[in-house]
Amino acid sequence: MTQRKILVTAALPYANGHIHLGHLVEYLQTDIWVRFQKLRGNQCLYMCADDTHGTAIMIRARQEGRSEEELIADMQQAHIRDFSAFGIEFDNYGSTNSEENRKLCHAFWKEIREAGLVKEKDVEQLFDPEAGTFLADRFVRGTCPKCKTEDQPGDNCSSCGHHYSPIELIDPVSTLSGTTPEVRSHAHLFIELEKLHTFLDEWVENSNSLQPEVVNYLKGHFLHEPLRDWDISRPGPYFGFEIPDSEDNYWYVWFDAPIGYMASTLQWCKNHGEEFDNWWKNPETEIHHFIGKDITYFHTLFWPGMLKTAGFNLPTKVRIHGFLTVGGEKMSKSKGTFVMASTYAKHLNPSYLRYYYASKLGSKLDDIDLNLDEFVTKVNSDLVGKVVNLASRTTRFVQNKNLADVYPDDGGLFANAAAAGDKITEFYENCEYNAAMREIMALADAANKFVEDHKPWELRKDETRQDELKDICTISLNLFRQIVIYLAPVLPRLAQQTGELLNDKIGPGDWEKTQEPLVGTPVSPFTHMLKRLEDKQVKAMIEESKEDQAADAAIASSDTSNQWNDSAEPLEKEPLTEELCTYDDFVKVDMRVARVVEANHVEDADRLLQLTLSLGGSETRNVFAGIKSVYNPEDLVGRLVVCCANLAPRKMRFGVSEGMVLASGPGGKEIFLLNPDDGAKPGMRVH
Ligand code: MSP
Ligand code: ZN
Repeated sequence: MTQRKILVTAALPYANGHIHLGHLVEYLQTDIWVRFQKLRGNQCLYMCADDTHGTAIMIRARQEGRSEEELIADMQQAHIRDFSAFGIEFDNYGSTNSEENRKLCHAFWKEIREAGLVKEKDVEQLFDPEAGTFLADRFVRGTCPKCKTEDQPGDNCSSCGHHYSPIELIDPVSTLSGTTPEVRSHAHLFIELEKLHTFLDEWVENSNSLQPEVVNYLKGHFLHEPLRDWDISRPGPYFGFEIPDSEDNYWYVWFDAPIGYMASTLQWCKNHGEEFDNWWKNPETEIHHFIGKDITYFHTLFWPGMLKTAGFNLPTKVRIHGFLTVGGEKMSKSKGTFVMASTYAKHLNPSYLRYYYASKLGSKLDDIDLNLDEFVTKVNSDLVGKVVNLASRTTRFVQNKNLADVYPDDGGLFANAAAAGDKITEFYENCEYNAAMREIMALADAANKFVEDHKPWELRKDETRQDELKDICTISLNLFRQIVIYLAPVLPRLAQQTGELLNDKIGPGDWEKTQEPLVGTPVSPFTHMLKRLEDKQVKAMIEESKEDQAADAAIASSDTSNQWNDSAEPLEKEPLTEELCTYDDFVKVDMRVARVVEANHVEDADRLLQLTLSLGGSETRNVFAGIKSVYNPEDLVGRLVVCCANLAPRKMRFGVSEGMVLASGPGGKEIFLLNPDDGAKPGMRVH
């Protein structure tokens, strides 16, 4: 067998959030594939990195009051911790905010410029003057220009599904500051993808790099018409790399993110004294990208276009998977099904999830469902009941002894399972892990039947049949080991334990060991390999995922109040009203913006001022307000206030009061009139 040279990547997780069970579909799918290739004896590298640039990271760092570098360093540690808890083993885990990546971005840029693919165009974008930043789509909400549903996201409407640019939104609001953003124009740089159209048509159709449904999707959605220019720059402030020949412009995060695959490889090469071009410019190297279906577009059009232009290897395969659902639904924080990797690992053994995902994953883009009941059943009946059981019910009869010196006649079981190796290889190679698991479990069924038919627990009692007992145990442990090697890409921990049990390691290149029985070696004492999974453990994980969210909310709210150091004193002095106010109650009070058009002292009243309020036009209210201790009448004339316009008129000693001015504070020297923001007009309703 000639050794293949394979470079594998999984998408680079964003540095603005923690790893959850959805992400793990991808990192486990990829890890299994890489481990399979290594087990087969191929040279295979698993490259990944954190995706660190962009507005979201910049905003989060600001909110946390620290630098982007600190934020991404912490997050990288957390990601690495989560991945390693699940046995996900990268050959290098880098960061897109590295010098290697900067250098490679410059190299790409030079080639793309020289190929005449860059053009400059002015772009109108929403700018938040208070936050001092242009707003990415997800930081804007407003009314849908098509169906007029209020409070919709910046890119498409959740009610009618219409796609738009945030500048088309009616009454846009910045979610960063709550202010109304302005439209500002700035020069952006675009890559003219259309110039690569012929190449992309050819590559998509004929390279055999994509799943058939992806080819159809690309042809039907993008390649049937001219490809749009791709906007790859963002004006500052932006957390990213500055574009060398375009002042105050930064590369958009999706420009430098895939280059991060190469930057991570470059780091690995430096650490291992290897030539970078030997990987990315070597026609012998296979490159496999594993990604989720949401980022298809970037990896199957832009990325091959960039690689082609800069003269690097094109992807051998882009392997695209579907999304995780839990119980047939999107993961949900309120239901506790949005489970963080760290929460899972606190409650359950990661091997369970590795096996469960493997048993569900095929080569299609279908979503995969985590059904919690099925999860428990599958783990217990397959892993514990079929696989581990083979070892636990036979090892104790041979522990501290040796396996038989000659492999006994097993009626063709071992040979049969060895012959299944080719089929299993093909399933792994094609990412049909579900089919591989079915095949392997069928072998486990046959092995268990053998043990039941030969009842070693009965042979043990008969002094005259000890050789026979040894043979039966030698056979069952060999069938067990063969199955464990087939499962090793999925269950590396079990493979390691089995290696220790039978004193023969299972490591890279050891796939061939499925073809040859092990004889004469000592058997170590049995230790527990995998426990049964209890329903209550799963319940505890779900419960904690609900709690996580409550804790998050508490942290978020205490963060915002602490930030300003507001004291609890006002609330302590005047506790909140217990009784609820219905919306109907609330709208009964007709509050309006009003202008003070006249203000006078009132004879013999030491607290009151008489105000004439205009609601616009000829509508006025005469109001007596207890604000004399703080306000001079002449300072009030002309200003806007908020008044209750439908308060029942009340006869007072000095005249009739026809309304009320809204003010806050306990009284005395602490009275504060409410002030509408600029732009409000007398008569406008307050709601
Ligand atoms: N940073 C980009 C990728 C840049 S690659 C040059 C990104 N990051 S991500 O953190 O949002 O997602 C990382 C990967 O996890 C993506 O391939 C994405 O499809 C996958 N998944 C994220 N949530 C998922 C599920 N709920 N289910 C399955 N895969 C999911 O995209
Ligand atoms: Zn709409």
